[in-house]
Amino acid sequence: MTSFSARRARLCQRMAPGAVAILPTAPEVSRNSDSDYPYRHDSCFYYLTGFTEPGSVLVLVAAHGSAPAQAVLFCRQKNAEREVWDGFRHGPDGAKAAFGFDAAFPIDELDTEMARLLANAPATYHALGHSAALDLQMKTWLGSVRRQARSGVTAPTVAHDLLALLDEMRLFKDDGEQALMLRAATISGQAHARAMRASRAGMFEYEIEAELLHEFRRNGAQFPAYTPIVAAGANACVLHYTVNNAQSRDGDLILIDAGCELDSYAADITRTYPVNGRFTEPQKILYELVLAAQAAALEQVRPGTIYTAIHDAAVRVLAQGMLDTGLLAKQKFGSVDDVIAERAYQQFYMHGTGHWLGLDVHDTGAYRDVHAEGKPSRALQPGMVLTVEPGIYVRPAQGVPEQFWHIGIRVEDDVLVTAAGHAILSEAAPKTVAAIEQTMRRAP
Ligand code: GLY
Ligand code: MN
Ligand code: MN
Repeated sequence: MTSFSARRARLCQRMAPGAVAILPTAPEVSRNSDSDYPYRHDSCFYYLTGFTEPGSVLVLVAAHGSAPAQAVLFCRQKNAEREVWDGFRHGPDGAKAAFGFDAAFPIDELDTEMARLLANAPATYHALGHSAALDLQMKTWLGSVRRQARSGVTAPTVAHDLLALLDEMRLFKDDGEQALMLRAATISGQAHARAMRASRAGMFEYEIEAELLHEFRRNGAQFPAYTPIVAAGANACVLHYTVNNAQSRDGDLILIDAGCELDSYAADITRTYPVNGRFTEPQKILYELVLAAQAAALEQVRPGTIYTAIHDAAVRVLAQGMLDTGLLAKQKFGSVDDVIAERAYQQFYMHGTGHWLGLDVHDTGAYRDVHAEGKPSRALQPGMVLTVEPGIYVRPAQGVPEQFWHIGIRVEDDVLVTAAGHAILSEAAPKTVAAIEQTMRRAP
């Protein structure tokens, strides 16, 4: 049994007996005229199949009575002419054999087969409210089942949200996923190191971005997992900066938030370093502050800790640092608790400290225990992977010491929760002041 078929079996066990789950992969998207955007399959579909061809739908039927669970794939037919232009297709027979489905049909037969598969099924599972196209197809299929009512066929009477089951399964990474994520984070960490080594004052942000992309691709990563941020100087204070077209200046910090996608799994790493290889004193003060905040946050990453404790730990260190450095005036705030209570730290730290990471860069899974009274923040468990990414962003403002103006810093690592605590997957990216300056040291 592959990990994909094991996941299908586990999902079927969680479904109502005899219920039918329907999960299409992602559509192809046209960019213009004859060009499509690079194709990326749907993450949930991939999680259950390992199948990367567009035009595919997975249907699962949960076991009921003596009938075993079934996994049925619909996919494109083999087509000698199209394969000359677009490349290999498995076709239903090939896909059934290679991926271990119980049955496979051409995608053109989906409507006919769904009317058969849904007949007498008690319930359905699909991603509720996510796709108008799928909702319409469901309507068509259920309509054809209902039309058979006079011959005693019953239509499903309950529609469940498939993602409520799948999102939670995806939150816990198995050994194979953990190994892939370590590799994705290692390639990405090496790409950050390469960008540091290549950087020179006066380089354009896109030249540095090219170093990252080169390192991703030459190691077999298929894409960046998200649009890379390469932000020189004040651009680092724009949180979602992605144009990456400015020229760096001597004395600038460069903030890079970039990670690759390897075999469908994302890395998400941020490093901030001086373009000329040497931190200035004000840069170093704030950098060490963000590092200390990250260390405090990382200390919280272990089984049993409540998710929000990670952010709270980072905020406390940052808030204290804002008072110590004069970013926030001591005369105005009596203590770090006031800074936190009044959320004054949000002037310089306005985002969360992380998120789940996996097939998606902001991966699936609830952050709260939605079944408990009051829906409290949930406890960490082994197998979860998350980012820990505090930062500080100083825009010019009255009362803010000028030496810190335009400094933007974030440090982001990818972290696996283990039985003993945690493992940092992104250690290949230099992080301390000493490690960064060492990586960037030039020949005299
Ligand atoms: N790169 C996206 C994020 O850090 O959340
Ligand atoms: Mn992130
Ligand atoms: Mn990031």
